[in-house]
Amino acid sequence: MTINLNPSDKALVPFVSVDNMMRLIHHVGIEPMLRGLADYIEADFKRWELFDKTPRVASHSAEGVIELMPTSDGEVYGFKYVNGHPKNTKDGLQTVTAFGLLADVGTGYPVLLSEMTMLTAMRTAATSGLVARYLAPRGADTMAMIGSGAQSEFQSLAMKAICGLKTVRLYDIDPAAVEKARRNLEGTGLNVVACKSAEESMEGAQIITTCTADKQYATILTDNMVGSGVHINAIGGDCPGKTELAPGVLHRSDIFVEYPPQTRIEGEIQQLAEDHPVTEMWEVMSGLKPGRSSDKQITLFDSVGFAIEDFSALRFVRDRIAGTDLYFDLDLLADPDDPRDLFGMLQRAKG
Ligand SMILES: NC(=O)c1ccc[n+]([C@@H]2O[C@H](COP(=O)([O-])OP(=O)(O)OC[C@H]3O[C@@H](n4cnc5c(N)ncnc54)[C@H](O)[C@@H]3O)[C@@H](O)[C@H]2O)c1
Repeated sequence: MTINLNPSDKALVPFVSVDNMMRLIHHVGIEPMLRGLADYIEADFKRWELFDKTPRVASHSAEGVIELMPTSDGEVYGFKYVNGHPKNTKDGLQTVTAFGLLADVGTGYPVLLSEMTMLTAMRTAATSGLVARYLAPRGADTMAMIGSGAQSEFQSLAMKAICGLKTVRLYDIDPAAVEKARRNLEGTGLNVVACKSAEESMEGAQIITTCTADKQYATILTDNMVGSGVHINAIGGDCPGKTELAPGVLHRSDIFVEYPPQTRIEGEIQQLAEDHPVTEMWEVMSGLKPGRSSDKQITLFDSVGFAIEDFSALRFVRDRIAGTDLYFDLDLLADPDDPRDLFGMLQRAKG
């Protein structure tokens, strides 16, 4: 009897490690990739009705949350595993880590496994830039960036790459975080201003991004801090009991969301009545509903991060790694010679 311990092609799934994801991002270029991701996300939002949609499946604990984010367009299935643990950075761990998978609906076989910590930062930023292209005031070139953690440089560069941002004004309660982000953004072409308060960061800004992490109802923006005509890109409020904006700001804003059944649980609008009117971004992108409609309007993107954005990002990665050395094949799927002889296959490894 021949013993075959080498996995066949049917056993192998392309795997993108963190190392290869970093190489892919530089291979494509950070800003071109942010634009490319935005194009993929926009294309998928425009075929929104095709997708299976569900609020993400969240497992909450005292310290954080672990979530699964599935979706399918009928041909390809995808999901992401992601956590959110704001206290992690004190222990040298990240607040958010992630990985994800695409599978062929026809066979159920996975076709891509990928790290998604880097990719989540890229896709979240690309989504912010894409949405701001529909909602930010015309000619907006200055952004207040409140929260200088892991996501912040990605958010700043996406607004530059997708919306033509010229100046970013950074604020964080931790001055070391501001200094880290200022240093990282040096030489990117953005004019970077370090600020000592949230109010200072908002001087002259037409876009305000809040991207802080705290497991509580925080008030990063109070009502009197927000003038008319701005676009608020609210990233950090993305869990029950975890928000960034005072209710007064919400009542003065026109609110735009990804998927209402999830945002009403997790977003800023958890603070409002269940039937408070919101506009879905896919409808704006499809031309069914207006985006910004006046100079005075405050637009608010109540971002929580939705499964379709991860699906789009994984699709982008799958298309870009084809024919490159930016992945390796993982022996992930058992492949018995006779599909029903799984036990027989087990015997191959008997000592
Ligand atoms: N909407 C989405 O799709 C999406 C995606 C990824 C992450 N997030 C959320 O974005 C937030 C930021 O993520 P991260 O990975 O950058 O986290 P992080 O922990 O790396 O950074 C958060 C920063 O916020 C600062 N901060 C906390 N409270 C503040 C306050 N009151 N004022 C100013 N700064 C304050 C902290 O000092 C820290 O530097 C998290 O809440 C995360 O859950 C949302």
